[in-house]
Amino acid sequence: MISKNMLEDIEKVLISEKELQKIVADLGRKISEDYKDKDLLLVSVLKGSVIFMADLMRAITIPCNIDFMAVSSYGAGTKSSGVVKIIKDLDKNIEGKDLLIVEDILDSGNTLYYLRNLLAARKPNSIKICTLVDKPERREADIKADYIGGSVPNEFIVGYGLDYNEYYRNLPFIGILKETVYKEN
Ligand code: IMP
Ligand code: MG
Repeated sequence: MISKNMLEDIEKVLISEKELQKIVADLGRKISEDYKDKDLLLVSVLKGSVIFMADLMRAITIPCNIDFMAVSSYGAGTKSSGVVKIIKDLDKNIEGKDLLIVEDILDSGNTLYYLRNLLAARKPNSIKICTLVDKPERREADIKADYIGGSVPNEFIVGYGLDYNEYYRNLPFIGILKETVYKEN
């Protein structure tokens, strides 16, 4: 059961608010440098990456466009089904654009593997992946991120956009969710 006080459901803070700020600033600096002569389009994968996206785009100092996509792979559980469904597609044509897919977490990789192939078929000039966190132990698909904020152990994490059952996205840090929260139901 989810507590009224979200903090009671957190086993341990993995990445603090301060650490997140530094991670995002560093990524923004690097992306601004790498894309300075390109036509950057940031594609945020809803909803998990929305907080990361909002902070990252402000850490990017070159002109860029943004767009959003919504896919589902998890439903209400904590394990990837490997089935990806498009819920909301991009608004605009991406031909010739330099796409950077912005994700919250690269876990099994099934979602991004599917998404990258789908977007590559629309002929962007380039396509890369930026993930806030990587959980490499759980990888099933043959995919790597080009920009990685940090690595996390094989635990279910929430906060800074990441959810369990749509809750905890508004925590300002990333933490491990107590097993009791999702093992009871
Ligand atoms: P993947 O397809 O297994 O790589 O994971 C796709 C999505 O699952 C991510 O974008 C997240 O929304 C969600 N996800 C994976 N691991 C976690 C986690 O530890 N906490 C919260 N969401 C997760
Ligand atoms: Mg997500």
